[in-house]
Amino acid sequence: MSALPALSTVPIDRCADLDLARIRAEFPILRQRVHGKPLVYLDNAASVQRPKAVIDAISDCYSSYYGNIHRGVHLLSERSTTAYEGAREKVRAFLNAASVQEIIFTRNTTESINLVASSFGGSVVKAGDEIVITGMEHHSNIVPWQMLCERTGAALKVVPFTDAGELILEEYERLLDSGRVKLVGVVHLSNALGTLNPVKAMIEMAHARGVPVLVDGAQSVPHLAVDVRELDCEFYAFSSHKIYGPAGVGVLYGKKALLEAMPPYQGGGDMISLVTFEKTTYADLPNKFEAGTPSIADVIGLGAALDWLNAIGLDAVAAHEHALLEYTTARLSEIPGLRLIGTARDKAALASFTMQGIHPHDIGTILDREGVAIRAGHHCAQPVMQRYGVPATARASFAVYNTHDEADVLVKALWKVKELFA
Ligand code: ALA
Repeated sequence: MSALPALSTVPIDRCADLDLARIRAEFPILRQRVHGKPLVYLDNAASVQRPKAVIDAISDCYSSYYGNIHRGVHLLSERSTTAYEGAREKVRAFLNAASVQEIIFTRNTTESINLVASSFGGSVVKAGDEIVITGMEHHSNIVPWQMLCERTGAALKVVPFTDAGELILEEYERLLDSGRVKLVGVVHLSNALGTLNPVKAMIEMAHARGVPVLVDGAQSVPHLAVDVRELDCEFYAFSSHKIYGPAGVGVLYGKKALLEAMPPYQGGGDMISLVTFEKTTYADLPNKFEAGTPSIADVIGLGAALDWLNAIGLDAVAAHEHALLEYTTARLSEIPGLRLIGTARDKAALASFTMQGIHPHDIGTILDREGVAIRAGHHCAQPVMQRYGVPATARASFAVYNTHDEADVLVKALWKVKELFA
């Protein structure tokens, strides 16, 4: 990790490029009090809060023009279809994908990965093949591949990582060299460690051996600009609820040629061209992978979230969150017995930690009484906990609306936890 600034020189709560007061005012929930204390929401890696622009976009859809999409000839259906497809274009632009046909709406990252494991994996992977993932995946990028391996007789191979939480790329290369790898699945930003993985280099290494790559972007998209054409990944998955949009919507980006060659994931309305009892032909992309009525207003809400985030600018977001991470890391390091889990050089704004002799759930509960919401548990990444020999960690994760003052409230509450258990 880069050198931390001396505490006396750390700004308490200012960021040159962001008007934090204005940003915070856009989040009604941040005005809430919990247990009589101002809410300090630091569970953003689990799910962020939504700005009013997103809440309004959803409400406006239901209040003024909601209808089912791609079906009706009436005005409401047309307006909803236009807004829904407009959101797809916003996602395309956000990821810099070549075509809207490469943007599939799903329920969440988990469903996006299951789609690839089932459709791509199911048609390509055979007994004796291998799927490579990393040791720091969360369950969404482990279990679908295990299920595929169980079905096909393929094997799951895991790239190890160092104590700091950095992938060992020599081991990755060794696994790729087996000649049996059919797909690599790698998390862009670890939800349990904060590590930002060198996915571009990893994709190049895989491509040099003709292996396609799926990047799990659940945690990365709210924190850094992603360009799927620059990365050249075959698949990229993320969830709306981590990027200031509503829950219940996810995105799968896939290269068009691959998506065209893949069989449908689910059957039903909207994914068909012609249905007879003898045979069904399927719709073109992207509809082929969107069976049934989707969460229309929520997709439109995701579009509003991307507009909102773009207006702030991901560079400004990243700079602010990096400052918060450095400040918080320095303050946490002053607490005796506090062990940071995940100290990679490239790290995003989350701090996962344990405190000697205190269960993370106790930390979480005491912090809650102070108004501070963090996550305590295995973060849906049990193998990461096993790697460090801990049952769980406490995790404070930051979003653009968090402030240095809030980091201070967290640290003060942790000193209180320490005193209570002394
Ligand atoms: N994977 C989500 C988290 O990190 C739920 O909390």
